[in-house]
Parts: sequence; structure tokens; C-alpha cells
Amino acid sequence: MKLLRDARSGAPFAVLLGLALVVAGCSSNNNGQNSLQPKGRNARLISDLFIPIVILAGIIGVLVVGATVVFAIKFRHREGTDDNPKQIHGSTPLEIGWTIVPALILAVIAVPTIATIFKIAESPKGEVLHATVVGKQWWWQAQYDKQDTVANANIAKTVVTANEIHMIAGVPLEIALQSDNVIHSFWIPELGGKQDVIPGREQHITFYADKPGTFLGACAEFCGLSHANMRMRVVAQTRADFATWVANQQNGPAQAWSGEIEKLTANTFACTNCHVFNDSSKATYGPNLTHLASRTTFAGGSMELNRANLVGWILNAPGDVPMQSKDCRLPPPATCVGMPSFTKNTPKGDYPVMTKAQAEQIAGYLLAEK
Ligand code: CUA
Repeated sequence: MKLLRDARSGAPFAVLLGLALVVAGCSSNNNGQNSLQPKGRNARLISDLFIPIVILAGIIGVLVVGATVVFAIKFRHREGTDDNPKQIHGSTPLEIGWTIVPALILAVIAVPTIATIFKIAESPKGEVLHATVVGKQWWWQAQYDKQDTVANANIAKTVVTANEIHMIAGVPLEIALQSDNVIHSFWIPELGGKQDVIPGREQHITFYADKPGTFLGACAEFCGLSHANMRMRVVAQTRADFATWVANQQNGPAQAWSGEIEKLTANTFACTNCHVFNDSSKATYGPNLTHLASRTTFAGGSMELNRANLVGWILNAPGDVPMQSKDCRLPPPATCVGMPSFTKNTPKGDYPVMTKAQAEQIAGYLLAEK
């Protein structure tokens, strides 16, 4: 009995502590993925809708829970009294009341909600940057085709990159979202709401960024083994910085892809079954590696790009991020997904085990422009 009493007296404290933790988690969260800290038009529209509705729902919640507690205490069982309350069939005014009041509340919430949905879905007018983003297992391919809709951007030739999507602060970025495998969901909380990415369909989402900055996101729909490692970031830049980035992407690789490095990546380890090393305008099965060095992350945006990480990854990628590649070296469409290990489970015959020196050589080529 004493234990039960202790547990009862501790319960309100536990509830309060839990609530405090939840609220603290919302308010001081600066991990770059806080939808309560909007950094652009669409994220702000969502936040401006969300906060009043949470307050309204909170007030209703407190009233309902409060009334439940008050009535439970007021009408609790007392010694020597009859437990059965007065038996009545129902109360028409009460029933009409609790049908109409919630209906009215929902109607009031629906008006700004629908208006916001339409505002967010609007296609941006005037100066607009366009990109196509394709959900892969487990990374994002971003492609900028030739366009002259943005002043001074000079996108005269296709640019293909991965996981890090560049835009100009103050110029809307309209993204066409595609998937060539399963359903993913694209979500950059500080720039806007999430959009499912569905095979066989093209969905659209527009980002507005007030100021230059890097905005983080993660795939928000379970898409297989490495869903948790499928990250992305939007990099909003000034006009000048964006133009510089485009020009750099359109250049050839920092070092000529020929001789020893070509032999290693094309013949010995067949990296070119899935990747391109020397032309950033080509979309391939795996990420385009021509300007990998210009990115800050790799491995589906889940790992920091530095030499040690990259060498480890080239040797044994499934050791860093779970893959369904096993000993697969086949060109697409293969049934395997992701980078194979070049040191473990390597298939007999054509494919040798990779040495650390060979991985260093490949990493050196990939990081040459850094
Ligand atoms: Cu892609 Cu989850």
C-alpha cells in the first residue's frame, strides 16, 4: 500500500518533469532543423499557423483535463452513500452543444489552414531558380538544367550534384521532386514543410530563404535500411557566391581523370559502373563525384567530408552506413543497393581487395580541389 501511495504522489511530479523536458526541447533547439525557427516565407507561414492552433488546442486540453479531474473528485465514492447516480436517458441541449462547439472550432481552424495550404502551393513568380531533386537509396541527387530565369546565375549547362542543394537567398528555389525507387520525403524544417517524393510522380516544393545560411534536413519517410542516414542540406548563398559555385561546378575536375586513377576507378574496382569522375553534367546511378571536394558532407549527407572519413568509406562503405550491397559490383539496374565493401566479401575472380594505398590515391583525386 505504501509503495502504491508513493507512486501516486510521484506521478504529478513525473508528468511535470516530462512536460518541462518536452517544452525545453522545443524552445532551445538549435540543431538547424527547428520548424519553430522559420528562416523563409513558407516555413514562416506554417509556423504562424501552427503556434495559434497549439495555443487554442492547449487551452481546450487544459479545460477538458481540468473538468475531468474536478468531476472525478467531486463525484467520487463516499462511504455510506449510494454509488448509482441519477439515471437519465440523455440531454438534448448538451448533445447539440458538444457537437456544434467542436464543429465550430474546426471550421475556424480550417479557414487559415486551407488559405496557408494554397499559399504554400503557389508557384513562385518572377525570378525563380529551378532544380530537380531525385530521391535515391540513400541519398539525394540535385540537378540544375540550363535556365536563364535568374539574373547572373549563368546556368548555361547542366549541373549535377548530391545531398547539398544550392540556392540564392531572396530568390525562390522551385524543386521538382522525383524518386526512381521507393517513397522518400523531402523536409528542410527551417525553410518549409515536408513533401513526399513518390515514384512515377513529380511533386513540387518551393523554398524561400531570407538570408544566406545552411539549412539541414533529413528524409522523413521510411525508405529502407539506411533511411536514418539519408540527410540533405540547402545552402542559401548571395548572388555572387551562387554564380561562383555554378561556375566551379561547370568546370572539369581539378585533376585530369586519366592514367593510373582512371585505371583504378574504371577497370580495377569498377567505380564507374555507378559514378562519374570527370563530368559534372551527368546524372549517374551513384552520386556524381566530379566536384565532391566542393561539398561538406558525403555518404548521403551523413558524414563530414574529410580525408580520413573518405578513405575509410572507399575501403568499406557498408562499415559506416548499412547497405544492401553485399559483394555486388554489377552496373545498374542491379538488385543490390549502395556502395560495396572493397575489403570484405569481395567477389572471387575479377575484383581484387583494395589496399589502403589505393583508397588514399582515389581519395586524393577526389579531394584535389580542396
Ligand atoms: Cu529516403 Cu527515408
